[in-house]
Amino acid sequence: MSLRIAAGSAHPGLAGAVAKLLGTEPVPGELARFPDGELRPAVGHLRGGDVYVIQPTGPPVSDHFLELFLLLDACRRAGAQRITAVVPYFGYARQDRRSQPGEPVGARVVADALAASGAQRLVVIDPHTVALEAMCGMPVEMLTAVPVLAQALAPDVPGGAVIVAPDLGAVKLAERYASVLQRPVAVVRKTRITGAIVRAEEIAGDVAGRPAVIVDDMISTGATIEAAAQVVRAHGGTCHTVAATHGLLVGGAGQRLRQLPTSRVVTTDSLPQGHTSSPALHAESVAPLLADAISRLHHDQPLAGLRAPA
Ligand code: R5P
Repeated sequence: MSLRIAAGSAHPGLAGAVAKLLGTEPVPGELARFPDGELRPAVGHLRGGDVYVIQPTGPPVSDHFLELFLLLDACRRAGAQRITAVVPYFGYARQDRRSQPGEPVGARVVADALAASGAQRLVVIDPHTVALEAMCGMPVEMLTAVPVLAQALAPDVPGGAVIVAPDLGAVKLAERYASVLQRPVAVVRKTRITGAIVRAEEIAGDVAGRPAVIVDDMISTGATIEAAAQVVRAHGGTCHTVAATHGLLVGGAGQRLRQLPTSRVVTTDSLPQGHTSSPALHAESVAPLLADAISRLHHDQPLAGLRAPA
């Protein structure tokens, strides 16, 4: 089987960088749009190929998912022998349960649609929930960008620093940073009021007099990070650095990040960057991580060292 990289329109720059590291180029493709908005992607020759379709599902999330479903089906019909959906940022993962009656379980719906479209395996990076694996009938490879981000932070992290999880869901992630950086962990108790409004009042752990490194899986509106920074300061700490794998950066995130009393906000290029300007914002590339994972999967080798620990 020959290795083939197919790129959706969500992040051609990342797909190109991954393909280059693998010594190839994305297969030619095009994305047409009917006058009513319908998408019609097309892929080139793929017969017998081991195909990796790279499409992070940032905004517009639903359009990017639908394009991915169509692309997967196009690959299957073009004769691909094995199809892997590479979705570095997996949208809808926050809808992993019903928070009130009458809601859908959005993550399950898109997982089912991926499988129905032809994906035989899924590769993601630091998904919002590890429950994604249980929701998917296909094998799910959960890679982690924590070592990449922690290494980028390490030279600037002061001795007395503490790693801060801005909510309970981020505790495991914070523990992974803490293990690489050899620092203790503190945890903020957050309540989400609406999609863009959160309240954080308490913190478990000692932050008084310490610089805090606040870590999360994603920054969407920045409200969670802003609230965590306020709690840290209210308890006598300082907000030193922020790190998050996925920089969605929507709905006023740019302004919130600019106002944060921190010198550095580090994310990755799992999503296209550049639409939010902040001198403190810096993105590490996940292209080497993805290229390494794809190369090993293609050669049926284990992903030891690239996967998030259970
Ligand atoms: C939620 O639990 C996630 O881990 C993030 O904390 C959240 O999605 C970030 O969103 P925002 O930046 O809008 O607060």
